[in-house]
Amino acid sequence: MDEAKEIVFSGIQPSGLLTIGNYIGALKSWVQLQEEFTALYCVVDLHALTVRQNPAELRRRCVETLALFIACGLDPKKNIMYCQSHVPAHAELSWLLNCHTYMGELQRMTQFKDKSQKHEDNINAGLFTYPVLMAADILLYGSHLVPIGDDQKQHLEICRDIAIRFNNAYGDTFVVPDAYIPKVGARVMSITEPSAKMSKSGEEGSYIAILDEPDAIARKLRRAVTDSDGEIRFDPEQKPGVSNLLTILHAFSGESIEALVQKLAGKGYGELKNAVAEACIAGLAPVQAEYKRILNEKSFLEEVMRDGAERAGAIAHKTMLKVRKRLGLAPYKL
Ligand code: TRP
Repeated sequence: MDEAKEIVFSGIQPSGLLTIGNYIGALKSWVQLQEEFTALYCVVDLHALTVRQNPAELRRRCVETLALFIACGLDPKKNIMYCQSHVPAHAELSWLLNCHTYMGELQRMTQFKDKSQKHEDNINAGLFTYPVLMAADILLYGSHLVPIGDDQKQHLEICRDIAIRFNNAYGDTFVVPDAYIPKVGARVMSITEPSAKMSKSGEEGSYIAILDEPDAIARKLRRAVTDSDGEIRFDPEQKPGVSNLLTILHAFSGESIEALVQKLAGKGYGELKNAVAEACIAGLAPVQAEYKRILNEKSFLEEVMRDGAERAGAIAHKTMLKVRKRLGLAPYKL
């Protein structure tokens, strides 16, 4: 590890297919960040367990998510990619931090409130302490910068609070991280309900998966919800649907929103949707081709995962020694 570089950490759950929201809002900036920083990108399978998973599917998706990372341009020579459960220190630190986190703080988390409503039959303790595991992920590596979507700001805030509290109680131990919110695409919205964030757990027509076939992409975009005033203009408040389409078009075409609005002035929504579909299909094609190729390289993927876990584990181990000492846990020699 290059000690001079600042550390970036981020994670994505292996639950379901990643969407263009993940691509535009997260993976594209992860690719940029790996050039400048020591970057760790984690498939957070422990977080995925807060809702009931099918074991065979979860196992498969962890590898698929890693393959997709690489297909999107993440390079195992430039960063550390691994699977959260392969570094047990995440769970260990999470417990220690749980003992320094208040019930009241966790009760305020809007994601917990939303998810408890969605999964009324399984409001488990893990769902409640989800942000603490996320804090452990981040703090284990001395992360300075954490790329996240808008919806994770509150979780990063609690992570900072926990780090500061711990440092005040036991002396300087953790780096207090900052959020990195990409300028564009921090919130790619649902196609069918543009007031909500695009989510892979939403209904099928509401999101575009990175691996969707061209036909499916075009069909979903044709059904995109817009509005009735008929004017193509960027105004997320008044025109969330149209603005969302413009954001997606901007992300895939590289053209600025202003240039796109000028170009599309006077045109109908049908044309806008076509343009978005075209750019999206063209932009995803190389990623999809690369994904198919890499998925067949089983031993390569296994090696990336193993090597990532080993390198991440070495950093985590150092942090844990320090944390254990600070807390007064009895030293042990193996
Ligand atoms: N909770 C994040 C999400 O759902 C995923 C995540 C887990 C994460 N641990 C993290 C993101 C650490 C950033 C840093 O999007």
